[in-house]
Amino acid sequence: MKVEAEKVMSPAGSPQVPDPEAMNQMLPLGERRAAIEIENLSKKFDVVAVDGLTLDVMEGELFGLLGPNGAGKTTLINMLCGLTKPTVGTAKVGGYDIIKEIDKVKDQIGVCPQETALFPYLSGRENLDLFGSLYLMPKDALKKRSQELLAGIGLLEDANRRVGKYSGGMKRRLSLICALVHEPEIAFLDEPTVAMDPQSRHAVWGFIRDLTKDGKTVILTTHYMEEAQELCDRVGIIDHGKLIALGTPAELIEKYSAKHLEDVFLQLTGRNIREEL
Ligand SMILES: Nc1ncnc2c1ncn2[C@@H]1O[C@H](COP(=O)(O)OP(=O)(O)OP(=O)(O)O)[C@@H](O)[C@H]1O
Ligand SMILES: [Mg+2]
Repeated sequence: MKVEAEKVMSPAGSPQVPDPEAMNQMLPLGERRAAIEIENLSKKFDVVAVDGLTLDVMEGELFGLLGPNGAGKTTLINMLCGLTKPTVGTAKVGGYDIIKEIDKVKDQIGVCPQETALFPYLSGRENLDLFGSLYLMPKDALKKRSQELLAGIGLLEDANRRVGKYSGGMKRRLSLICALVHEPEIAFLDEPTVAMDPQSRHAVWGFIRDLTKDGKTVILTTHYMEEAQELCDRVGIIDHGKLIALGTPAELIEKYSAKHLEDVFLQLTGRNIREEL
């Protein structure tokens, strides 16, 4: 369904010039611009971690990257964030090349790494302040944003406690909001809900969903298939560094005559995701 420019009206009812960003967000995913364009990307360590991967992720999409341990998910994210250089191929993130324009890429992204990297002697709020100041956020805006994020993720009561005393799930939640404090357009969330109890996980799902309602693009890795099925617009399954399946959870379930996404994963990789945990 294409949105017709002449139907976009101001609240008062008079015609106005449509905002191209808002127009793009109203399009179905397949017709939007790509936020991330990956072309034939490979990374070879002593093993081949990512092997000729090509993929587009659209603006405002919540994309799930699934795969067994060692499939290459984190390596792929690290290349897209400029933490690891590709051996072959390249990608554009937010329209910028990850090799030639990595500083511009970094301006647009937020990263919640698989290994939580927080400052244990600082409080939750101080960690957020530190991350926000690294992004040169104005003090007042940072204070307001920190308060919203702490409340949204359920950490307000613990905000002034030292992070070293936090539980594993609390650290993961703080790591997630530290990645988002500067309101990046594109977020890479590498297993954001690992070590969380079901209640926290559901709260985080709502939080992640709200990001895409605001038009942000999210790449999420997870070993929880119900999470991918519940949250993601599309998922890509990678194994041995190659993309072996791509589609909406419903499309993949139908294509592989499966009951749920976990069955699809099992059929494709020969492994049950729970064996991976
Ligand atoms: N810095 C590195 N040096 C050497 N090998 C590496 C390095 N980083 C990753 N690898 C290898 O690359 C492969 C892919 O690892 P990666 O961490 O990307 O997998 P993953 O899909 O994120 O796995 P998991 O689900 O366990 O997080 C593995 O064989 C791993 O040992
Ligand atoms: Mg990983």
